[in-house]
Amino acid sequence: MTVPDATAAFSEIFGGRPAFLVRAPGRVNLIGDHVDYCGGLVLPMAIDRAVLVAGRGTDTGTVEVHSSLYEQRVRIPLASLVPDADSPWCRYVVGVLTLLRRHGVALRGMDLWIGSQLPPGGGLSSSAALEVGVALAALAAADSDLDKRELALLCRDAEHEFAGSPCGIMDQLCCTSTPQGHALLIDCQSLYARPVALRLGDTELVVIDSGVRHSIAGGEYALRRRQCELALAAIRARFPHTGSLAQIPIDELADITGTLTPLLAKRVRHVATETERVRQTALLLESGNLEEVGRLMADSHVSLRDDFKASCPELDCLVDAAMTVDGVFGARMTGGGFGGCVIALVRNEAVSGLRTAVASAYESRFSGQAEVLAVHSAGAARVSHLS
Ligand code: GLA
Repeated sequence: MTVPDATAAFSEIFGGRPAFLVRAPGRVNLIGDHVDYCGGLVLPMAIDRAVLVAGRGTDTGTVEVHSSLYEQRVRIPLASLVPDADSPWCRYVVGVLTLLRRHGVALRGMDLWIGSQLPPGGGLSSSAALEVGVALAALAAADSDLDKRELALLCRDAEHEFAGSPCGIMDQLCCTSTPQGHALLIDCQSLYARPVALRLGDTELVVIDSGVRHSIAGGEYALRRRQCELALAAIRARFPHTGSLAQIPIDELADITGTLTPLLAKRVRHVATETERVRQTALLLESGNLEEVGRLMADSHVSLRDDFKASCPELDCLVDAAMTVDGVFGARMTGGGFGGCVIALVRNEAVSGLRTAVASAYESRFSGQAEVLAVHSAGAARVSHLS
């Protein structure tokens, strides 16, 4: 996806020059999916594809936003902060502005140009990048600031309230807080986060986009979240001190989930085992044991596919095809699932073989094409003030 130069594009739309540029990265999750909203551990990294915002403060009392992705321009009066009904993406912008105001930020009028290198609904966290990008732009225009964790929480709350997506905290916290060259190990219960150096040696992380689009505001994600809440409530009725599903020790799973329905017991098993896999992956990554990291990634996919039912035939086909290639250590769906992307850990010299294997397996079964994306680690969202 090519994106025009943000400064030039801003000038063409609004005239004059922007006062600041914001780069808010997407993310790919190495391991730990569908556990953030259950208090589990996750290990995402920020990637070198981002939402870009070029902007300047104005005294017009309105926020004028041009989306280059949708080729749409909307006017949001600061007095009412109502989203434009014809532009669904605008809900994220209005959501973030509303919550910043509630937080006490004195919003200013703005001209904003927004571009994106992230496919919407592609599982690379385009929504969180948009939220964080707009929030940082509004803070820059208002000459204000917010702690990274508070910023992430505010953006997540905006997504809940204004986009109707009951997401966890992983994407927003990854976007605001991950240092370059690292993944971020986040304990989603305490929100304690620790950077983990990516010691990839002669391997790389490759993302394969299935082209199948999902919306986490859609039914399946919300249903999984609801099932986890039901399971936790049932477990607490018998074991009142259970803090979260992710804290259940693996060797006590059978006892603790014994009275749940088989379906809920599987959901809990995924959450508890996935959290343990994330804990181990962080240590293995730090010690450079990539073969074991790959094995855990493969196990994670099986758990998401069979216990959590968050995969789909297209993602399973990509993972299976990747796992047949010599030099692929592991592959798994990444993000919310039900479409979106697969991540694979691959020896550098095996990447072209991976491309071929994936393309032929996918095209023989599905009508669309799977795209292999080169992604690299990038740093957290940042604002550059232009002179
Ligand atoms: C989406 C959500 C995240 C997380 C993942 C699954 O990306 O935004 O909070 O739940 O799905 O791990």
